[in-house]
Amino acid sequence: MREILVTSALPYANGYIHLGHLVEYIQTDIWVRAMKAQGHQVTYVCADDAHGTAIMLKAEANGVTPEEQIASVKASHEADFAKFLVNFDNYHSTHSEENKHFSELIYRRLNSAGHISTKDVEQLFDPEKKLFLADRFVKGECPECGALDQYGDNCEVCGTTYDATELKNPHSTLSDATPVLKTSKHYFFDLPEFEQFLKDWTRSDNRLQTSVANKLQEWFDAGLTSWDISRDAPYFGFQIPDTPSDEPDKYFYVWLDAPVGYMASFKSLCDKREGTEQALDFDRYWAQENENKTEVYHFIGKDIVYFHALFWPAMLAGSELRTPTGVFAHGFLMVNGEKMSKSRGTFIKAETYAEHLHPEYLRYYFASKLSDKVEDINLDLEDFMQKVNSDLVGKVVNIASRSAGFLVKKYDGMLSDVCVESELLEDITKTGDEIAVAYENREFSRAMRLIMQCADKANEYIDGKKPWSLAKQEGTEQEVQDVCSVAINIFRQLMVYLAPVLPELTDNAKGFLNVDDLSFASRNEWLLGHKINKFKPLMQRIEAKDIEAMIEDSKASLAQADAPAVSDNSKPAVKDKAQTTDVDTEQADYIGIEDFAKVEMKVAHVLECNHVEGADKLLQFTLDVGEDKPRNVFSGIRKFYEPEQLVDKKVICVTNLAPRKMKFGISEGMVLSTGEPKTGLTVVTLPDACVVGDVLA
Ligand code: MSP
Ligand code: ZN
Repeated sequence: MREILVTSALPYANGYIHLGHLVEYIQTDIWVRAMKAQGHQVTYVCADDAHGTAIMLKAEANGVTPEEQIASVKASHEADFAKFLVNFDNYHSTHSEENKHFSELIYRRLNSAGHISTKDVEQLFDPEKKLFLADRFVKGECPECGALDQYGDNCEVCGTTYDATELKNPHSTLSDATPVLKTSKHYFFDLPEFEQFLKDWTRSDNRLQTSVANKLQEWFDAGLTSWDISRDAPYFGFQIPDTPSDEPDKYFYVWLDAPVGYMASFKSLCDKREGTEQALDFDRYWAQENENKTEVYHFIGKDIVYFHALFWPAMLAGSELRTPTGVFAHGFLMVNGEKMSKSRGTFIKAETYAEHLHPEYLRYYFASKLSDKVEDINLDLEDFMQKVNSDLVGKVVNIASRSAGFLVKKYDGMLSDVCVESELLEDITKTGDEIAVAYENREFSRAMRLIMQCADKANEYIDGKKPWSLAKQEGTEQEVQDVCSVAINIFRQLMVYLAPVLPELTDNAKGFLNVDDLSFASRNEWLLGHKINKFKPLMQRIEAKDIEAMIEDSKASLAQADAPAVSDNSKPAVKDKAQTTDVDTEQADYIGIEDFAKVEMKVAHVLECNHVEGADKLLQFTLDVGEDKPRNVFSGIRKFYEPEQLVDKKVICVTNLAPRKMKFGISEGMVLSTGEPKTGLTVVTLPDACVVGDVLA
């Protein structure tokens, strides 16, 4: 029995979980379940990544403390993961005692081994907000091409990378103030000292995928540089210990304590399980001398390879702790062949998806797409519907539904005492060995293909035997029972193979099959002279209207613009080209006041309001906003209003929103409402005296 600790990257505590994240958590969860089914002792831990300026500012904006902010996000993350059947053994937070302890321990060990140095750094400082500005919080004119409104790391117009201090006419996106240069002492981790260690580490023992190792080679070629691990107050994080008393507070940069969160979560689990049968020994997994006794794997996205394959192993090695056995990177999620987009409604929250579609559909679809490669994976919604319907409903569940009826009706659910097609069953049992290898190697798409080939064989067998015609003939009772029994036995094996991907469906199948074990070994036990229960449909087909509704909801619930992210803790802008990782531009958490000022809102008079045929969420408005022509606007508030209630009212219309083509026509603006779609939306109405077309300040 192998002892394996598995982690997924820790999601930031300032945003919701979306389908892109789920690629990772579903991939990891499937792997963990598959390895557990093989009889290994596998522990799967994760946590929220709770520190950093972005979270601090978000809390401030929401009028809560950072602690309150991260607690509510954590609860929502956990609820989302549970819906998608992601089964962590422990879900913790980086803002925890354990994490503080291990972050300090690692830092102190690095420091006493001489791996930490200090240096004065000159940085832009916001004199109003009184904080140092990360690159993403400064905007100005590009020093190269003069383009306006560019971030402090690189120009989106000409592509040049530069220091924020080089921007012309810079301003803080937090306060709009002109930043000033200010010097402060920073702490650095000496990464270059670990160059040889890292070169060996990344190239040995199949720790990394080849393409990742090659990418790292580019970074080595470009030369490693020391890593700035400190931030000045105010900062939401852990204070760096043992700093001189005359210095202002120094904090660990969020990316220093984030990976330590893996250990912290594991430690918290060890404490919870102490004295139980499932007790875990922390040192067995993290002490250097036990490196060969246990295995540690990190599943991550391709954007955070730098942190996991360079900084993290160097930090661990430098503090005499074990390094991970493997780091597995996956690609990014595309939807319909493009980057997820808020305006197209393809930026889909986990929560929104789950309101419309069963999470296991997505688990299966991702499984059918995932491999051990770092390639992006595409969720093509049409293909998604077809694949799930034809593979799971049409092929797999169908095997049970077409054979169970006969058995239950005519034979009281009893399967034959002998198997008349042992070769076929043995063939499928043997394919199981390949499926197991495919799971272990993270070749899930191969595993799904093999499973569907087995299902095809079963269906061909049933089609050839035609139990439905046999049942109409005389003297064929035994044959009908035998054929259906073979089908049910194959179905049982398919449930074993699919259990890591479809835990809920296969759990329900246990009830129907009247078995309590779907572990991998159980595929060798044939069900002979065994009684099954009445069949209940195990999975419904996906309907196109559910997908459409999910897209509409996503459009409605998210901001209109595909605004770029502004957060200091996401993927730092790495100046060196070779070190550039894809910057996460998805979680738009902050906009500057100047962005808000761009929104033009006018007093509008509702000339007409109507239902929209075929759209159960929308109302159509014809609005007079004081222009030559009235505007046509759709709003997702049908649930809350009868059209008559809104006719003749004065409302607020956002008039400079890019026109949006919808299935039912073009929407030329937005009617403002308050509240949230779940509990009810109220259209903001203005007194009659307001003048149509007036701009609201
Ligand atoms: N907090 C850091 C990770 C710290 S780990 C010590 C972080 N958080 S994240 O919320 O931005 O992302 C969490 C994981 O989800 C990362 O592995 C990231 O690559 C992955 N994904 C986020 N968006 C994704 C897609 N659109 N597609 C696939 N994976 C994506 O990074
Ligand atoms: Zn430029």
